[in-house]
Amino acid sequence: MTIFAIESSCDDTAAAVVQDGRKVLSSVVASQVFRHVEFGGVVPEIAGRMHCEAISGVVKEALSQAQMKIQDVDAIAVTAYPGLIGSLLVGVNFAKGLAMTAGKPLIPVHHLRGHIAANYISHPDLEPPFLCLVVSGGHSHIVEVRDFTDMRIIGRTRDDAAGEAFDKTARTMGLPYPGGVHMDKLAEGGNPNAFTFPVPKVSGSPYDFSFSGLKTAVINTIHHMQQKGQEVPREDMAASVRQSVVSILTDRFLLAARDTGYKKLVLAGGVSANSLLRRRMTEFCAENGFSLCYPELSLCGDNAAMIGAQGYFEFLRGSTADMSLNARAERSIEY
Ligand code: KG4
Ligand code: ZN
Repeated sequence: MTIFAIESSCDDTAAAVVQDGRKVLSSVVASQVFRHVEFGGVVPEIAGRMHCEAISGVVKEALSQAQMKIQDVDAIAVTAYPGLIGSLLVGVNFAKGLAMTAGKPLIPVHHLRGHIAANYISHPDLEPPFLCLVVSGGHSHIVEVRDFTDMRIIGRTRDDAAGEAFDKTARTMGLPYPGGVHMDKLAEGGNPNAFTFPVPKVSGSPYDFSFSGLKTAVINTIHHMQQKGQEVPREDMAASVRQSVVSILTDRFLLAARDTGYKKLVLAGGVSANSLLRRRMTEFCAENGFSLCYPELSLCGDNAAMIGAQGYFEFLRGSTADMSLNARAERSIEY
């Protein structure tokens, strides 16, 4: 089954053609980051407008790279939730138009389920059940993936998402938006033990995360040093922040894995590109008899191939929509 997929939930306009949930025939991503960088974050109104400008070109390019016409695909999948409403609406409306004119089924896809499904492309033998750490710019969850479309959140962030923790601390250090990748690169040359930051526990919720204390501690440390006229050692600071964020994530995730008994662990979302997170998890899993999957780097960030992959499994379970489909800014991954 061949699915044409569209993703426009944040600041990437993307389209892809994916076969049977696993094989990518084409994947095109038009990033808007060069426009948002001057504001230090995504400006929703600009994002919506830029999706409008980009979407038809991105759709044409994805079809052309797959050497297909829209009539050749079997269904249209689209990210319908969660995300910036003005951004989501552009993709959803375009997908509805395509589905109606080509007479194809329309499949709404949850963005975070899509991030998890990126792993089905990178690891063609991967199947649920498994335990997944979903870490993006907007969400941080530990998810029991019981089946392709049956998920339970067992841990979540109480404040910022992991990506936000990276982006906000990176901003304090004067790094460009989105700061996660810059922080990761800078950290490679630094001493992770140069600064110690709090690793908070959320009382009563052993699998929940909190990053606000870390963010405040980093900001305070930088300001104190600046007030004293000291230069902030950027590489050491980046390495220390990265180590703290990754420790918070891995401590909770591995505790959840131990308690639930899952032996198959999976990483997903933009932050799963983080090199320390990947290294730490790889070492731990090798030493303790766990299997580990994470997406290839090109599929960690937002893309439509992952939406086409999840769309296939949603379709198999009968999750199609009619022309009344609407985008939603919020929706849990559990439904
Ligand atoms: O999943 P994603 O592309 O978009 C959302 O759905 O939010 O995630 C974007 C987030 C950003 O916060 C970005 O800084 C972070 O992923 N990110 C990273 C790295 N690459 C991207 N964070 C840490 N290390 C990286 N290498
Ligand atoms: Zn995302």
